[in-house]
Amino acid sequence: MNESVGVRADPVADRIVHLTQLEPLAEERLAGPTWDYVAGGAADEHTLEDNVAGWSRIKLAPHTLVDVSHIDTTTTLLGHALAHPILIAPTARHTAYHPDGEAATIRGAKAAEALYVQSSLGGTGLTEVADAARSADQPWWFQLYIQRDRDWTQELVERAVAAGATGLAVTVDTPTLGARDRDKRDNLGAAAGAFYPILDGAPVLPDATPAHRRIYNPHLSPNITWADLEWLVEISPVPVIPKGILRADDAHRAVDLGAAAVMVSNHGARNLDTVPATVDALPGIVSRVSDRVPVIVDGGIRRGTDVAKALCLGATAVMIGRPVIWGLATYGERGVTHVVEMLRTEFEMAMALLGAPRLRDLGPDLLWANQP
Ligand SMILES: Cc1cc2nc3c(=O)[nH]c(=O)nc-3n(C[C@H](O)[C@H](O)[C@H](O)COP(=O)(O)O)c2cc1C
Repeated sequence: MNESVGVRADPVADRIVHLTQLEPLAEERLAGPTWDYVAGGAADEHTLEDNVAGWSRIKLAPHTLVDVSHIDTTTTLLGHALAHPILIAPTARHTAYHPDGEAATIRGAKAAEALYVQSSLGGTGLTEVADAARSADQPWWFQLYIQRDRDWTQELVERAVAAGATGLAVTVDTPTLGARDRDKRDNLGAAAGAFYPILDGAPVLPDATPAHRRIYNPHLSPNITWADLEWLVEISPVPVIPKGILRADDAHRAVDLGAAAVMVSNHGARNLDTVPATVDALPGIVSRVSDRVPVIVDGGIRRGTDVAKALCLGATAVMIGRPVIWGLATYGERGVTHVVEMLRTEFEMAMALLGAPRLRDLGPDLLWANQP
């Protein structure tokens, strides 16, 4: 018998073979308010469920008898040569999930060759993010929440770019947070300011409204408008990418104003419940702007077939949010790498089984609904 058969080489990879296996393990580690914050969506969580379910509603139509002995997932995105089109979405407070926080995520991303997007609400300061990214030689974009004070916001953009950010994902779907019932029950947010070193020093207005009647958040500007997007495009030395677009007309307007790409997202279903799953918003946006800019989509992507479907529908790349946190919380940097690698491997398998060995082979004809 060949002795190498069955050898256990990697204690993580040998046991964890798909993404969702990590979810209950992460829940054990983070049980309580931190888990509620990560797992939760807005209100009744209809969209939360739909984000994941939406991808599986779409049926695939594989070509047979295609030579798939070489699978090529390389692509370019706003000047970055990427090994594959799976990005790490910006999520807040990685230090709450693992003691090494964002630094571990950055190293994990590097090993998985995944572009990393740093949240404004990170648990690690920009200097430390920059150090970790520089020493890992990891490219990253910065996710911006425009602050009430625009001068301070401009300084933040300048600091992020000086720290090495090569793109600016400006979140446009969050003038305030959604009805996050789980967090309300946990009274999360009572000490909000203290958690966010990147926003340290941002002038915030005191809000005397009693908690149960409060809508606004001190770190989110409720008066951001198209003029702010235009302004950001003007002042930013790096490409500006609005994150959180669901409507085709908004995508079109953003591109007219100079957006370098568009992120189709419903914020992981954390803001406005009953908006559509992102898979349902994607085609309209693709048909309006994908001839001009790359379209990136996130929300509920858990399987390689989901990635394949996103690209068949015209996305250039996808982002994953919660699964990265699951990986980080359970196995630290190794877990982050493993999450991306599992998804990437499944994606490559899906490409092989679809008879689509290159990304440009992934098109609408591979979706069952479009059968001739
Ligand atoms: C715990 C958590 C924190 C998040 N923090 C941010 C954030 O700081 N800024 C932002 O633009 N989006 C944030 N998001 C949304 C993600 O960037 C992304 O849109 C979403 O997680 C994708 O859906 P998925 O989690 O189903 O993959 C957060 C999501 C989660 C789950």
